[in-house]
Amino acid sequence: MSSKHIETQAIRTQIERSQYLEHSSPLYLTSSYVFEDAEDMRASFADEKQRNIYSRYSNPNTSEFVEKVCRMEGAERGYAFASGMSAVFSTFAALLNSEDHIVSCRSIFGSTQTLFNNILPKWNIATSYFKMDELDTIESLIQPNTRVIYAESPTNPAVDILDLQRLGDIAKKHELIFIIDNCFATPYLQQPIKFGADLVIHSATKLMDGQGRVLGGVVVGSSNFIQKIYLFSRNTGPALSPFNAWVLSKSLETLAVRVDRHCDSALKVATFLESHKNVNVVKYPFLKSHPQYELAKQQMKLGGNVVAFEIKGGIEAGRTFLNAIKLLSLSANLGDTRTIVTHPASTTHAKIPEDVRLETDITSGLIRISVGLEHPEDIINDLKQALEN
Ligand SMILES: Cc1ncc(COP(=O)(O)O)c(C=O)c1O
Repeated sequence: MSSKHIETQAIRTQIERSQYLEHSSPLYLTSSYVFEDAEDMRASFADEKQRNIYSRYSNPNTSEFVEKVCRMEGAERGYAFASGMSAVFSTFAALLNSEDHIVSCRSIFGSTQTLFNNILPKWNIATSYFKMDELDTIESLIQPNTRVIYAESPTNPAVDILDLQRLGDIAKKHELIFIIDNCFATPYLQQPIKFGADLVIHSATKLMDGQGRVLGGVVVGSSNFIQKIYLFSRNTGPALSPFNAWVLSKSLETLAVRVDRHCDSALKVATFLESHKNVNVVKYPFLKSHPQYELAKQQMKLGGNVVAFEIKGGIEAGRTFLNAIKLLSLSANLGDTRTIVTHPASTTHAKIPEDVRLETDITSGLIRISVGLEHPEDIINDLKQALEN
């Protein structure tokens, strides 16, 4: 593993130059590749040669993107997907057998929950959940058929922090595959492999792209697991497109400067919200009042770009607040240059019964802000006028 800094890896990891000696990597918009002769073709299909055969298997642009993420996360190998969810699904489909069992944190992305609760049970794969603040219950959930411990940190949308080292130690003790969705932190802020993760998953759609343009996903980690994920994906087809890989690889070149600014503005927004009379609680990992502030400081370089707060007045106040927003966007994405505001209880989580919703800390007045790259004063001014509307 090279000792270069993460910023340099993100910029200087590059596929071989073509005969034109271009400075920036070109886009290889091709679905297949040609062979010299029958022997070359035979050896390539027999895996005796490392080369591009077909873009469902590999492509120079996806290889560059994956190699960058591997170097940034400190991983051996990876594979890139069309979306974050295809990365999550393919990982479980490739590694688990029917009757296997997953232990997962309850506070995970909604579609991942749907995968665990409604889709994997078709193959008799069940999931037991632990609450983010009850890590001592994890060992009691482990069964003889448990294969995986799965979590996200920071969590979505409540921005709680899980102790990754503790999870890694439990996984190691019980010989389980430890998988972390590192989408909220990015490899710039947190590298779960250092805490024992075997696999790290990203929705590249979020901060990796950072400009709300393309969908993408990636899984990196130990070679033996990635080989299984690669063979599954090569045959089932969830591959990232070369164009999206080219966009994402260019985006990684600016990840560090973008995320620095996102985090700086997010801390300013969180500090402002904490002082506002219409706000009950503010959750931001690098605010001293965050319940896991010390842990966040140990695990993360900065606090990330997502701030959660509880507006006084519950569901109705949340709706009124959304309607009063003028500059910021009401959208389902996060990690964009544009600041995005959501009110889960009246929108994404409206169909979920209140008691179930509360188990993942989605209170009626919870507002999630994905702080963008506009001037922080303009972000704060819009939030202020909407809170006082
Ligand atoms: C934490 C997390 N994981 C996975 C995903 C899924 O990614 P995608 O939308 O790229 O499929 C998301 C999307 O919001 C997410 O927030």
